[in-house]
Amino acid sequence: MNLSIVQGDITQFHADAIVNAANTSLLGGAGVDGAIHRVAGPGLMAECKTLNGCRITGGYDLPCRYVIHTPGPIWRGGGHGEAAQLASCYRSCLTLALENGCRTVAFPSISTGVYHYPLMQAAHVALKAITDFLRLHPQLSVTMVCHSPQALHAYQVVWNMLYQETKPHED
Ligand code: APR
Repeated sequence: MNLSIVQGDITQFHADAIVNAANTSLLGGAGVDGAIHRVAGPGLMAECKTLNGCRITGGYDLPCRYVIHTPGPIWRGGGHGEAAQLASCYRSCLTLALENGCRTVAFPSISTGVYHYPLMQAAHVALKAITDFLRLHPQLSVTMVCHSPQALHAYQVVWNMLYQETKPHED
């Protein structure tokens, strides 16, 4: 499986495309959105003003060819379709990446900052959506770029729960 989990700053990450946890206006914000716009420079904002929805732009001064902007769901307790919306964000970004000839894609942990999606639950949805997609499209490589040690830990724990748990021997 071409999926890695690392800790770092996605604005410094070299990939064909990085994903921005944006809002529906695509006109910038705080968190990873603000960081991406600061490093990319004013050209990115100018291009975003021409778009709406989950969209792809150039990377400008970032070390990536494209930025894929996706508004994640705002956490409202979990009973409002948040998990389905979050999974759909990951799938839409990967589909858009493939359509634009990308082979390497880096994600931040969408919705787990300003939008307050609980980290462990978000990690579960993200890793499941990405691995399901990669099984169908093994030519893609994906990196989850976790900003904090806590996020890195959450993604590693969930990864182990989902895919690397060894069953005890039954003799
Ligand atoms: N690199 C990687 N991850 C980062 C970085 C960075 N430079 N900066 C922040 N993050 C992480 C946060 O720690 C969090 O885990 O990205 C995750 C998503 O947090 P937010 O950026 O707050 O995104 P989100 O929760 O989806 O909220 C989106 O915030 O900035 C606004 O315009 C944006 O309104 C939208 C909302």
